[in-house]
Amino acid sequence: MSNDTHQEYDDGLVAVLEAVWGEGFMSPGGTDEVDRYLHGIDLTGLSVLDIGCGLGGVDIHLVSQHQASKVTGIDIESELIPRCERLAQKYNAVEQTLFLCVEPGPLPFANASFDMVTSKDSIIHIADKHALAADIYRLLKPGGCFAASDWLAGYEGKPSAEMREYLAAEALDFGLASADGYRHALSEAGFIDIEIVDRNDWYRTEARRERDQMRGALYDGLVSQVGSEFMEHEIDVWEKMIIALDQGQLRPTHLRGRKPG
Ligand SMILES: C[S@@+](CC[C@H](N)C(=O)[O-])C[C@H]1O[C@@H](n2cnc3c(N)ncnc32)[C@H](O)[C@@H]1O
Repeated sequence: MSNDTHQEYDDGLVAVLEAVWGEGFMSPGGTDEVDRYLHGIDLTGLSVLDIGCGLGGVDIHLVSQHQASKVTGIDIESELIPRCERLAQKYNAVEQTLFLCVEPGPLPFANASFDMVTSKDSIIHIADKHALAADIYRLLKPGGCFAASDWLAGYEGKPSAEMREYLAAEALDFGLASADGYRHALSEAGFIDIEIVDRNDWYRTEARRERDQMRGALYDGLVSQVGSEFMEHEIDVWEKMIIALDQGQLRPTHLRGRKPG
């Protein structure tokens, strides 16, 4: 269950993302956005799997604010796991959390292991949404739910030239799908009560605020950590992302489905 060589989210990128998005997060909106995509779900006493736990911010939040009894966070980047563990120590969440480095591919857990599966902005990295949805369904107990957020494609087929520029600048291993693609994958897997909530409008504004902070209050501190060349590159990624958001090509989205009880 380890993968020591894979490191797309290196120290420089992690430093920028965490500065922009908040302690423990490599995705926008922080705990408020987690609360939004979990709205109306009672996690008290639940055993939860978090796919792509990153720095562990979601996992700590689920045990400390949502009273999940156990959260297992998995990630393919081994360097991130000790960071999650340190955050769990800082927030007294060691007993209720487990962080594991896994290989990409089928999720290494027995059938019906979890009450709930979550993921925040990570399954963009998993291209085969049908295989993923079937695997999540398999891991859930009857009546269990999947609630997540992710970066979706606002197009079928080929992205716009500007979206391609953004994806090239980001240079991460992405496998985006559209809302229809997700709906189809979830429903083929057997999920019911599927809900897909578009967050493009919110994030178009938020991304501009983040870009302004990167140019302003965060700039000097981050340059001293990552260097000016990398910082300028990251600001350029944000500029390109804003164009892709404005075009509706990139669509942050909340996803939900339930395994029949
Ligand atoms: C954008 S970050 C989000 C991290 C975290 N969920 C958050 O919101 O801060 C995406 C994470 O997914 C992880 N990841 C990529 N492919 C994965 C896979 N196949 N299984 C599990 N995690 C994966 C990456 O290593 C990274 O930590």
